[in-house]
Amino acid sequence: MTEAPTRPDDFADVDAVAAAFAEHGYVTDRRLATTTFVMSRLGKPLLLEGPAGVGKTELAKTLALATGRRLLRLQCYEGQDETKALYEWDYGKQLLYTQILRDKAAELLTDTTSMAEAVDRVAEQDSAFFSERFLASRPLLEAVRSPEPVVLLIDEVDRADEALEAVLLEMLAEYQVSVPEIGTFVAEHAPYVILTSNNTRDLSAALKRRCLHLFLEYPDAERELEILRSKKTGLDDAAATQLVDVVRGLRGLDLRKSPSISETIDWARTLAVLGVTELEAGILADTVSVVAKYERDVERSRAALPRLVDPNATVPEKHEHGHHDHPHGGHSHDHAADDAGRQVRAAKDRPGRHDEEYYGQKSSGSGNETSGGAREIPPTTRGVTASQGARSFANRGGAKNAARRRPV
Ligand SMILES: Nc1ncnc2c1ncn2[C@@H]1O[C@H](COP(=O)(O)OP(=O)(O)OP(=O)(O)O)[C@@H](O)[C@H]1O
Ligand SMILES: [Mg+2]
Repeated sequence: MTEAPTRPDDFADVDAVAAAFAEHGYVTDRRLATTTFVMSRLGKPLLLEGPAGVGKTELAKTLALATGRRLLRLQCYEGQDETKALYEWDYGKQLLYTQILRDKAAELLTDTTSMAEAVDRVAEQDSAFFSERFLASRPLLEAVRSPEPVVLLIDEVDRADEALEAVLLEMLAEYQVSVPEIGTFVAEHAPYVILTSNNTRDLSAALKRRCLHLFLEYPDAERELEILRSKKTGLDDAAATQLVDVVRGLRGLDLRKSPSISETIDWARTLAVLGVTELEAGILADTVSVVAKYERDVERSRAALPRLVDPNATVPEKHEHGHHDHPHGGHSHDHAADDAGRQVRAAKDRPGRHDEEYYGQKSSGSGNETSGGAREIPPTTRGVTASQGARSFANRGGAKNAARRRPV
């Protein structure tokens, strides 16, 4: 691929990317700003992978705002075919034209004597009906045909079928689209292309090869706090700092769906609306459903909150058969759980350690969500072992079946 010439909307350097994104409320780190800058200069698509709610889609939207480019979005889904991605013929318009031109069509056919001759005569008019006039562009062709440079977001590409992925290849390699009846459209301006994936299935090596790649993790505490500040949630800084730590603690638990950045923002807004200035376990427990979206996760989060808010707190322990909480004071086991939890959280800071459960996919074997009284007891005394960082759907069976399911 030849290097694209610089354009007025190109970023001057990495710092310019960070500044322009910050101006539009998107907090970058060095790695993200550098990759975005390189993407803009090399003219290569950027594939963003990572769990839900870490800012993949938002990055593309912000890129459009920061560069003043129009955003074109292809939202991928299972069963989608290329007519929704590339182009389709505007059948309704073609029909309307033939109705209006019925007399003209009849005139064309007056001197024909056989059906075959009439069909041949009509076929001669193909080019009139399969011309740009009747072409309905979908996002990929639109990006190529656009007279102005655009940002093309191909969102959740892992949900598309492999057949559609193949269609993307020509487009991504050459920024061109072939329409057999007309010819090949080549982009006048290379679009900035962002693809996102939640890793519900492996993407082809051919697709990956054509893209720059960035794995978006949950941000570190400092950046998450900065994001909260940029969103002006109304929660004061001290409480927001504490909240970020609590959310990071929750991410260290064995939850079916870890809280995302957007959920941290929602939680901060919720607490601000309630007039909270100092975090305590009670109010967090009352509002934890903002970040925990499964009953099992709510239970586990509520059980962990006291020690996440105050590591020295004594945690009331639930008994398997009882319906009452009995405050038992510090349990030696709790410290083991804390240590293990800390290890899991530390592991979160290592890049490239994701498994499928991390993305909130349903576990076919989780089996913890029984209705009625048979619920598994929240892990107040259950250790979160460091090895859980390596848990994998593949080990539980049913991974293949779950692979294409949309994480909820
Ligand atoms: N770096 C960031 N700076 C500012 N806001 C952010 C950042 N990252 C995420 N957010 C916030 O989190 C919200 C969710 O982000 P986004 O929708 O881009 O997530 P996503 O990674 O595309 O998730 P999904 O995989 O579920 O589509 C955004 O609307 C934005 O408010
Ligand atoms: Mg998204």
